[in-house]
Amino acid sequence: MTDRNDIETLIAAADLTRPAPAEEPARQYYYIKKARQLVKEQSEERGRPLTACSVCFGCQMNARDSEKLMGILKDVGYEESEDEDSDFVIYNTCTVRDNADQRLYGRLGFAGGIKKHKPWMKIAVCGCMMQEQASLDKLRASYRFVDLIFGTHNIFKFAELLCTMFESDRMVVDIWKDTNQIVEDLPVSRKYAFKSGVNIMFGCNNFCSYCIVPYVRGRERSRAPKDVLREIEGLAADGVKEVMLLGQNVNSYGKGLEDPMSFAELLSEVCRIDGIERVRFMTSHPKDLSPELINVVRDEPKVAKHIHLPLQSGSDRILAQMNRKYTRESYLALAERIRREIPDAAITTDIIVGFPGETDADVDDTIDIIRRVQYDNAFTFIYSKRTGTPAAAMTNQVPEADVKRNFDRLLKVVQETARMRTAIWAGRDEHVLVESVNEQNPELMTARMSNNTLVHFPGDASLIGQFVNVHLDECHGFYYMGTMLN
Ligand code: 5AD
Ligand code: SF4
Repeated sequence: MTDRNDIETLIAAADLTRPAPAEEPARQYYYIKKARQLVKEQSEERGRPLTACSVCFGCQMNARDSEKLMGILKDVGYEESEDEDSDFVIYNTCTVRDNADQRLYGRLGFAGGIKKHKPWMKIAVCGCMMQEQASLDKLRASYRFVDLIFGTHNIFKFAELLCTMFESDRMVVDIWKDTNQIVEDLPVSRKYAFKSGVNIMFGCNNFCSYCIVPYVRGRERSRAPKDVLREIEGLAADGVKEVMLLGQNVNSYGKGLEDPMSFAELLSEVCRIDGIERVRFMTSHPKDLSPELINVVRDEPKVAKHIHLPLQSGSDRILAQMNRKYTRESYLALAERIRREIPDAAITTDIIVGFPGETDADVDDTIDIIRRVQYDNAFTFIYSKRTGTPAAAMTNQVPEADVKRNFDRLLKVVQETARMRTAIWAGRDEHVLVESVNEQNPELMTARMSNNTLVHFPGDASLIGQFVNVHLDECHGFYYMGTMLN
């Protein structure tokens, strides 16, 4: 990863009197320089700096993508704003469940209303949902006021697309079906100074039968270890203390690289980087989680004691229908191994209720696993039919009332067990990273334990971004109240 000064030198050297270079990232440096001119002209016309607002739906991957989008926007001259009443608004969409889609339409309607009074306002939509033809068609037909649409594969072209948008009076649409390109070394604007997500791979090859992700994020591609490590060294030099290594299935990292490297090896290497004090990762597929990885989590003090291990279902029949490639026995054996090797580690999970053909007995099997594993936390989702996935074509969709009933009884067990697990740390001293001022009470600070549990304690904002030791006084369900020790 080239550092910020090097990138600036390369942008300054771009020659706008010549056609844009074909190779990346030089091409984007050229368009960043050009976009700077275009934004400057518009800002002179308005007699004030232009503002840009980025709204992000979805997962950590999308959050990281939004930091890249804001990196470009700030670089070309926009001031960042939280307010959708801005000169430029970009929605980075998610399509994993239907409610994410519906949220976009609501927000877009609102932005369209603002634009009626601000004709110069530009609205862009990008991300996972735009990789689906039906959503794209809907925007084209009913949201004509949108100026720019692109997908997940060409986000690195954002500067170029901005220039195209400024020079066009029609909706600009650029969607790629897939890519094997990974473009590095573009500006990024981090949301937090002290922690950062780091993509280690893109896409997914698993094709779980309910999941849209492989269709919208494409085939699995790993970044070269040297690029990942250089990026993290750069982040450490910039004051970042905690990184989260991101991928749809981090345990299959490294397959297909010229010099193959396992995720366990990469994780150990990341721990060697000075300045990085804590390393997290997300998400692990149970079918690929290796004993070596469990050992690295156990033995490396920098690795957070937290493994997110999506179960989805505890019924062998449903797991097979979901194409998950593990059984309840193999999952339980894995969870037991983690509990045995790393007793302090939190295990969290994702569960889907209402997959086609799921019976009460299947849900009983899932609840049985929840009781056995004792998850520290679990995200429970109602199955959402995603057009184009194999599960959407299954004829035995479950009636809504049954899904709701099963969801409620499963959630009750999840909450009971998570409360019990969270409570066992009471009285301990924990090394925590202070993240923010408490949202409800400005005299409290909010910090994150190694196992991902939050603790609130009296303190002041100068502690944000620091590791401190906190005594865990009292468990309040899913979080702690504590007292700082140093
Ligand atoms: N319906 C409901 N939940 C889903 N997930 C993924 N696809 C669907 C779907 N179609 C959940 C899974 C996954 C999490 C990110 O979202 O539990 O682990
Ligand atoms: Fe949503 Fe999946 Fe895209 Fe993340 S990768 S934003 S969860 S659809």
